[in-house]
Amino acid sequence: MVRQESLIKAAEGKCEYHRADHSFRVMKLALQIFEHQLEIDAPEEVRQESDLFREALKWTAVLHDREMAGFDFDHGFRAAGKVDQIVRIQTSERLRDIIKFLCIYHVPDDSEIENINETQRWILKVFKDADSLDRIRFNNGDKLDERYLRFDFSKTLVSEARSLWERTKQFSDLPGKSFDAVFNNGIE
Ligand SMILES: [Fe+2]
Ligand SMILES: [Fe+2]
Repeated sequence: MVRQESLIKAAEGKCEYHRADHSFRVMKLALQIFEHQLEIDAPEEVRQESDLFREALKWTAVLHDREMAGFDFDHGFRAAGKVDQIVRIQTSERLRDIIKFLCIYHVPDDSEIENINETQRWILKVFKDADSLDRIRFNNGDKLDERYLRFDFSKTLVSEARSLWERTKQFSDLPGKSFDAVFNNGIE
């Protein structure tokens, strides 16, 4: 299991809208979607090694936008480039490869993503739906458009995602407080 303190320590962000509070909301939402979909349509590989994929979602949540500075298509690649340095001691190479994959591929549109396998496509859908649900924080061109959520279950989480954001946005500069706000007062 990933130690909570390690995740909190890794959750930094340079950009106003992509700080620790975003990371932890995405983590919570991704785990919710994961647990729901696991028994419904997860590939066999994910069912067999569900802990590995849970860990990958947690680390990706804290790392995926860490390198973001405004609109920037390459921030996923830069995040992937930091994975070995930041989480090497606590993770296996296989886990780091999944984290790197998710960091890189969370950025491009689904329509631009080709040549990935069934497991990669499924776990990416889980992560991207969680990241998309936290677009509830935007009121501009990046705002949430529910039609693009990939799982039907994700569409049922919109009002919960809004409520989670409203209760946790004030902790954006404080990773520890953000974590507590999301996981201790969050939605179960
Ligand atoms: Fe991003
Ligand atoms: Fe994000």
